[in-house]
Amino acid sequence: MRSKIVAGNWKMNKTLEEAQTLTSELIGMIADEVKGNVKVVLCTPFPYLVPVKNLLGSNARISVGAQNCSEHASGAYTGETSASMLKSMGVPYVILGHSERRQYFGEDSKLLTKKTDIALANGLTPIFCCGEPLEVREANGHEQLVKKQVEEALFHLSAEAIQKVVIAYEPVWAIGTGKTATAQQAQDMHAIIRKHLAAKYGQAVAEEISILYGGSVNAANAKELFANPDVDGGLVGGASLKSREFTEIIKSI
Ligand code: 13P
Repeated sequence: MRSKIVAGNWKMNKTLEEAQTLTSELIGMIADEVKGNVKVVLCTPFPYLVPVKNLLGSNARISVGAQNCSEHASGAYTGETSASMLKSMGVPYVILGHSERRQYFGEDSKLLTKKTDIALANGLTPIFCCGEPLEVREANGHEQLVKKQVEEALFHLSAEAIQKVVIAYEPVWAIGTGKTATAQQAQDMHAIIRKHLAAKYGQAVAEEISILYGGSVNAANAKELFANPDVDGGLVGGASLKSREFTEIIKSI
């Protein structure tokens, strides 16, 4: 059965001290208040992965994740971080293809194919992001674009490998805008993604893949979004930077 996951994407925010405070607060609140089997992932900036992981200790529910990794194995790539480095640090998750990476760093499907492969080869779980910009949604091209993003970056994988990937649908127009997709828009797109996976890999494989929604998720809208049958959790930006709000989001699943 596929996992329920709530991941926080901290993006490029917080000092080390703030990151440690947030983590400590979350450890306490989640231990006291979160029931059920939801997995929580804190996708911190690279420099905070080890300190945050150390604070988590052997916490069974909360893990860390990186926000990116290199497509290269090792070598002269100044400023980059490899999947094998993440593996060696005991980091289990890595976000790949976030719309900010696609937009500001020119990441495309060809590159994301390589990043996905190297992440999986190192035993990491990619959280693969897809989603359409506003103009594509307005022109009614969102289904086609998102299916294309998923198939170009992931459909070379075997049925066994793709079940190790988590997909995050994040409509670009909903990211950081306060304008969340409606629960129906999220469910519709998640069902389309799952149907697309089923057409390629079969229904049983598609049913095993967690599909998260991202884009202005907050404590007020999380319950309605997560209630949808094909929404398996969330990838949360701004609201994951506040311990009380993020805990309320986790409790909404
Ligand atoms: P916000 O929750 O701030 O809209 O960000 C969503 C996001 O980009 C998560 O990856």
